[in-house]
Amino acid sequence: MDYFSSAFADETIRDLAKERGRFIGTILNSEWFNDAIEPEFEEIHKTQFNVVVAENEMKFDATEPSENKFNYAKGDKMVEYAQANGLRVRGHALAWHSQVPGWVNNYSGQKEKLLSVLKNHIDSVVGHWKGKVAEWDVVNEAINDDYNHDWRSTGSVWYEGIGPEFLDSAFVWAHAADPNAELCYNDYAVEWGINEGSKAGFVLEQVKRWKANGIPITCVGTQTHIEIAHETTPQNVRAFAKALAELDVKLNITELDIGFPKGSAGKLTAADYEKQGHLYRQFMDVFLEEPNMGEFVIWGLTDAHSWLDEQQGKTEGLLYDKQYKPKPAFDSIMVSLKAHPASEVKSPYPDSVLIQQATKFVAVTSKLSAQITGRILSIAGATAAKVDVFDMQGRPVFSAKNVKKAVELSGLSEGLFVVRVRDGSKRLMQRITIK
Ligand code: G3I
Repeated sequence: MDYFSSAFADETIRDLAKERGRFIGTILNSEWFNDAIEPEFEEIHKTQFNVVVAENEMKFDATEPSENKFNYAKGDKMVEYAQANGLRVRGHALAWHSQVPGWVNNYSGQKEKLLSVLKNHIDSVVGHWKGKVAEWDVVNEAINDDYNHDWRSTGSVWYEGIGPEFLDSAFVWAHAADPNAELCYNDYAVEWGINEGSKAGFVLEQVKRWKANGIPITCVGTQTHIEIAHETTPQNVRAFAKALAELDVKLNITELDIGFPKGSAGKLTAADYEKQGHLYRQFMDVFLEEPNMGEFVIWGLTDAHSWLDEQQGKTEGLLYDKQYKPKPAFDSIMVSLKAHPASEVKSPYPDSVLIQQATKFVAVTSKLSAQITGRILSIAGATAAKVDVFDMQGRPVFSAKNVKKAVELSGLSEGLFVVRVRDGSKRLMQRITIK
């Protein structure tokens, strides 16, 4: 007779990530800061995630809208929320060519002035949140879009005025302002492989140089804004993580979304959503299997609020649909977490970091519970549940609808599986062993 190891509470991806010494998160959209978002947003956010990023509110134009006049109100609101709910905070972003206020551009080309503006900004902002923001995107998107293996040399007030040393200086200043913060270089299109000439290859060269020169970089962020057709990207991220591990630097997934072409809205099928889930799962598999990956951050929670629709000509790239219902992508992430037992997942963080992320928010648990006896799965608390069973590679191997009390998992061989039970808004996912 086999029983579920802990069958009496709903589980969250946050708790599963936490048990594995990892962080899973999403942004707080600008609508949250403006109190213009549905109540479900925050409830789901603090239940399912344990790392948070501000979509826009810690950027240069938000924090220093006028020279040396800082506005921390919205960032403080997020930090308080994070502390109340046991979330790690990522700071995004210090030195970036975009979202720079007009007054900075007035100093275009004035190297000494721009150096002092950037230093003052970093000293002040990192200093203000010292000990509260665990990790900063110190430099964001500094590499050229033309894939010519070089820095972004136009359209960047920092590069054009200061030269490439603005990056090195930014890391040094950020480290001086908060010696315990993790410091990242963050960029997009680094999920396209590490071959010579690639953007990720260029990042690797710079990280090597930074490490050799004592520049205090500890992490790289792969934004990973991709599309459903980009099937090779998870393995490219794996290769990038391994290469960074050799340099003793972490790789974090910082802005993941997996969008569909906008024209497909309203025409997407169950198979499309499963495919999206499969890709999310592959990213989570890579994340859990590579010991130098710490954070898995998605750029949005619900398809109702996403830059993809507003700015990208893409759609429906997130874990929750527009009605805040979890999509197959959510389940895929949970299946991946379940398939990687905590005992086998290495955390890149020391205990001191993990203990700080207290779980102050207690998720509301549903009354769904289940246990297995032989091949009979008994369910309590369901009215008409949908039961799905997956093998440890995440492939569906059994499915039944309208289960009220019990169902025989016919046709399954002996071994480990993950069972998912859904009944209205209640859900349960659990690993089972059939002997
Ligand atoms: O604040 C103004 C508001 O006053 C005005 O009424 C409104 C009208 O459009 O615009 C508001 O500013 C917008 C801002 O988001 C806040 O909502 C900007 O126009 C808009 O451009 C800005 O977009 C953000 C974008 O970064 C800017 O580059 C997106 O929300 C944000 O999701 C996106 O995030 C970036 C990451 O920081 C870096 N990586 C790529 C990622 C996606 O582009």
